[in-house]
Amino acid sequence: MKGIILSGGSGTRLYPLTVSFSKQLMPVYDKPMIYYPLTTLMLAGIREVLVITTPQDRHAFERLLGDGSKWGMSIRYAEQAEPRGIAEAFIIGERFIDNNPVCLILGDNIFYGDGLIRQLERVVTLKTGAHIFGYFVKNPRRYGVVAFDEMQNVISIEEKPEHPKSPYAVTGIYFYDGTVVKKAQSLKPSGRGELEITDINNLYLRDGKLTVSLFGRGIAWLDTGTHESLLEAGNFIQIIEKRQGLKIGCPEEIAFRKGFISPDELHELIKPLATTEYGLYLSRIVRQL
Ligand code: TTP
Repeated sequence: MKGIILSGGSGTRLYPLTVSFSKQLMPVYDKPMIYYPLTTLMLAGIREVLVITTPQDRHAFERLLGDGSKWGMSIRYAEQAEPRGIAEAFIIGERFIDNNPVCLILGDNIFYGDGLIRQLERVVTLKTGAHIFGYFVKNPRRYGVVAFDEMQNVISIEEKPEHPKSPYAVTGIYFYDGTVVKKAQSLKPSGRGELEITDINNLYLRDGKLTVSLFGRGIAWLDTGTHESLLEAGNFIQIIEKRQGLKIGCPEEIAFRKGFISPDELHELIKPLATTEYGLYLSRIVRQL
């Protein structure tokens, strides 16, 4: 399975922070925001990734992530000229996807918690249809909302409904087969002028090809789109990292643990970081394994 990280958008809710700088490069405690969705893909075992950015931010992302080879990955880049909706990712990524199954993750979404990797590993083998995740939230009106019947079958998915039929928001990680590109190309922009991911999900639902599972309350799904939620996400990461002495979303560590890079390659990555807290952490990890 291939992966796409959608990291465009205008980030208006974070102004003035994001006037000249991409939201997905903002710090979330000790790392740039995009490290979190990137490492979520890595933990799922996805090594071929397309990062979609605005034209003006592309070079900054390239400087940060490169071609991915330092982490045993392949990272390519594409541009979204205007924020015309999440589903446009599949039109922009048509050649990259090349009829293969693909996982889309939003560049400002953070997932963390027990059992997460197991749930992702189960879905990453998807060959046909679509799979999305629901998450119990206090205010579902802000999200796509998935509702179930008493047999736990999905009955509807509605975008930002006035009267949500359930408390389950659709999270920002989605798995699709290769037909997602044709489906995206068939969409018309919504009232707010966007190609809606909810419309893609409804096309799969109509064909009986959509499955949904839930992330339980032991998993954190964090939003980073407002000043408050950005600070809260940073505090959350800091609290867990400080308590455990283990980092969340560290690509060097995950590449090493997953066997994407060798111990020698990790040593090379540590060299320029040697005097930093981040580098000392990585040295400790190597010694402990
Ligand atoms: P949003 O938070 O909905 O939009 P935004 O990032 O532009 O922020 P704001 O509402 O403050 O203006 O986007 C969610 C994620 O999806 C975020 O990582 C940006 C990304 N995105 C795109 O890359 N392109 C798009 O067309 C849209 C709608 C979102």
